[in-house]
Amino acid sequence: MARVFSGIKPTGSVHLGNLLGALRNWVVMQDEADAVYCVVDLHALTVRHDPAELRAATLSLAQLLIASGIDPERCTLFVQGHVPEHTECAWVMECTASFGELRRMTQFKDKSEGADFVSGGLFTYPALQASDILLYDTDQVPVGEDQRQHIELTRDIATRFNSRYGDTFVVPEAVIPPAGARIMDLQHPENKMSKSDDGAQGTILLLDDPSAIHKKFKRAVTDSDGEVRFDPTLKPGVSNLLSILGAAIDRGPEAAADGIERYGDLKEATAEAVIDLLRPLQARYHELAADPAETGRLLALGAEKARTVASATLDRMRSNLGLLPR
Ligand code: TYM
Repeated sequence: MARVFSGIKPTGSVHLGNLLGALRNWVVMQDEADAVYCVVDLHALTVRHDPAELRAATLSLAQLLIASGIDPERCTLFVQGHVPEHTECAWVMECTASFGELRRMTQFKDKSEGADFVSGGLFTYPALQASDILLYDTDQVPVGEDQRQHIELTRDIATRFNSRYGDTFVVPEAVIPPAGARIMDLQHPENKMSKSDDGAQGTILLLDDPSAIHKKFKRAVTDSDGEVRFDPTLKPGVSNLLSILGAAIDRGPEAAADGIERYGDLKEATAEAVIDLLRPLQARYHELAADPAETGRLLALGAEKARTVASATLDRMRSNLGLLPR
């Protein structure tokens, strides 16, 4: 059975891009593979954070994952900081990646540009991500388009390590969905929808209520030529709405345009489809949020399962590197 691994950061609020680009694939893959999913709390430390908010966001994200259909009985769901093997392996990943490779990461460039404090961790972030993936002998990594470069680097690190020290790591592949891999901001359709623009009108949060969702779609930026047609280069706003509608109703973006002639109707149809998609997820989330102890119990079991796999890989890595057994 193939091994699948993926992660999500507990920063900001989870949005529609996360769901359509990644989480929906996670749910499907948990029945087709041995799936391991992780709330990457340590990655959230790469930027300034508030401790109480991080604690709450980590728990609430785990609950949102379960509410989206991730079933801790059918996969392994855990919090990164509960499995110390990740940080130990990350050091070795840092020593295997080159400075030049890390410097070329576009996510680092985007997040560091103009920031008044840039942590060392923000720079070495992809090495920790590589350790997340490689510790689980991962074959496939379901992610949105924005993570492609980090998965490529993980492959390069694994290949380099294996050729220097002997076969140790499985070289993983990114799995990017054909629809929904890059959901754009509703106000700035040239930028991807993102958690950091919290509260912004261009981001649909998974916990937004129906009236907020209607409002945000109603105000979505389109263009002035009036034709409902999928053309991401010439018509980024309209095409983004078609991508969202298509992904929400399981059709391609071109097919989603069938029978829709006016922008107002497109916005209305997309809002309704998203509300329908989120309704059951929100109901389940509110049930889970009422019992945080149960989520804590599930996460502890998940960490135990994860650790069994991660520690075996780490031992193999240590031995091949020439570190004395402990
Ligand atoms: P994060 O937390 O930013 O995003 C989680 C997942 O959501 C996808 N995504 C999107 N997909 C489509 N459209 C968008 N606008 C959009 N925004 C986000 C992301 O591609 C991702 O799949 N570095 C990772 C977390 C991570 C990880 C890992 C992922 C840490 N270790 C190991 C895979 C494997 C991140 O910041 O994702």
